[in-house]
Amino acid sequence: MPITRKSQSEIELMQEAGRILAITHQELAKAIKPGMTTKEIDRLGETVIRDYGCVPSFLNYCGYPASICVSVNDEVVHGIPSDKRIIQEGDIVSLDAGVIYKGYHSDAARTIAVGNISAEAEKLIAVTKQSFFEGLKYAKPGYHIVDIGRAIQSYVEANGFSVVRDLVGHGVGKKLHEKPNVPNFAGKQKGAKLKPGMTLAIEPMVNAGEYDVVWLEDDWTVVTYDGSLSAHYENTILITENEPRILSRAEGIEV
Ligand code: MF3
Ligand code: CO
Repeated sequence: MPITRKSQSEIELMQEAGRILAITHQELAKAIKPGMTTKEIDRLGETVIRDYGCVPSFLNYCGYPASICVSVNDEVVHGIPSDKRIIQEGDIVSLDAGVIYKGYHSDAARTIAVGNISAEAEKLIAVTKQSFFEGLKYAKPGYHIVDIGRAIQSYVEANGFSVVRDLVGHGVGKKLHEKPNVPNFAGKQKGAKLKPGMTLAIEPMVNAGEYDVVWLEDDWTVVTYDGSLSAHYENTILITENEPRILSRAEGIEV
C-alpha cells in the first residue's frame, strides 16, 4: 500500500474519531488517582470509548489484551493494564489509546503526573510534549518525514534527554498503522515528501537517561534499559496546504 491521502469525508470521520479520543484522554486524566489500578484505568477508557459508539483500536491488535496502554515511570510504552499494579503518588503514567469511528482510527498518548512528582519528571513531561510541537512545525508540504524527526530530536537532546530509536510514529487511517514510518530522530533517509491529505501519528517517546529500551517477558511492555523515567506524547494529525491540523484534540478539551 502506498501512503494514502484522505478525502474530505474520510477526514471528517477521523476528526470525529479524534474528538472522542480527546474526550477519553480528558476523562482518564481527571480520574487517575493514587490507589487506582492500571486495570481500572483501562476499564474506564474502554467504557468511554464504547459509550460514544466507538471501538478501542488496540483491543486484540496483534493480540494486545486491553484497550489502553498504561506505562508507568520507566515503562516507555505498551504497558499491559493489571489489577495488581497500583498507581502511586509521584508516578508518571503514560496513557496511549486509539479509537475506531466508522472504520477510521485515531491514536493519541498523554503522560500524566500523579500528585507531586520530581522536578526532573515535570521537565520530562513538558519537554516530551513540546518536542511534538517542534516536530509539528515541519508537518507541512515542502518538508519530508525526516524534518519532523530532526526537530523532535534536536529539541529533546538540547534539553538533556534522549529519544527512543526502536519505536516510531506512523501513518494512520483505515488501519492503526499505515505507511510511512515517522521516526522521532533524523536517520539517513529523508522519507516521503509531505502532501495534503496525509494523516500521521507523531509520537515522541523520550527517556530521561539513555535511549536504549528493552522488552519485558510479556513481549509487550517496553522499559528503559537504564531504569530512567520515560514519557510519551502523541497526536493524530492531518497535513494540509497550510498549517497541520491536530485531529486528536478538540475545542474545549484541555489535554
Ligand atoms: N500507539 C501505539 C502505537 O502506535 C499503539 C499501541 S500497539 C497496541 O504503536 F498493540 F497496543 F495496540
Ligand atoms: Co501510535
